[in-house]
Amino acid sequence: MAEIIELQSPRLLLRRWRPEDREPFAALNADPEVMRHFPACLSREQSDRLLQRIEADFAERGYGMWALQRKDDGAFVGLTGLRPVEFAAPFCPAVEMAWRLGRQHWRQGLASEAARAVLDCAFTRLGLEQVVAFTSEGNLASLAVMRTIGLRADPAGDFDHPLLPAGHRLSRHRLYRLDRADWEASR
Ligand SMILES: CC(C)(COP(=O)(O)OP(=O)(O)OC[C@H]1O[C@@H](n2cnc3c(N)ncnc32)[C@H](O)[C@@H]1OP(=O)(O)O)[C@@H](O)C(=O)NCCC(=O)NCCS
Repeated sequence: MAEIIELQSPRLLLRRWRPEDREPFAALNADPEVMRHFPACLSREQSDRLLQRIEADFAERGYGMWALQRKDDGAFVGLTGLRPVEFAAPFCPAVEMAWRLGRQHWRQGLASEAARAVLDCAFTRLGLEQVVAFTSEGNLASLAVMRTIGLRADPAGDFDHPLLPAGHRLSRHRLYRLDRADWEASR
């Protein structure tokens, strides 16, 4: 069992998941606006299963998709974190950053604030050499987060997501990367 890492940013706790997160997490996963760039919304059961998997990943690796909680009012905000890419692609093996916030928390700089804390963890505590992020080409908000936190577009690495059927509306994905050396140089 790995030592579980918990993080902080100025306004957020990046923590392990608690039973009381299940309901707001399910609401977020059932919101068509939040899930616009995913193949489908999640049912309550699917959302709970995802949460279980996230917690199992923490137990195995010590890091994963952290639950985000506002420090000021304790509200559950969403998730941000790291996970090894689980499909085959030319840029693998790789560790991916991802983020998903409830709609009421958008555009307050929270995703990028949490992602910066995660980058710091990736390159210092976890000793990773590189992180990647990717999303479907129409997900302008997610692409903006990648640029805001200093990831660089790698157009040669853009790809059709292998887990989506050919021609799916979300198929085409943009790839961004950040090397540890470039992150250190930018600090
Ligand atoms: C992507 C997401 C996490 C962004 O969260 P957020 O907290 O609103 O992002 P931030 O406030 O940190 O904004 C970071 C940058 O993105 C920009 N941005 C945010 N939403 C945007 C949008 N809809 N369109 C264009 N730019 C956007 C901000 O202006 C900011 O840019 P700046 O640093 O140059 O000012 C949020 O929109 C979300 O949860 N979306 C649904 C889930 C999802 O698609 N996740 C990604 C899957 S790969």
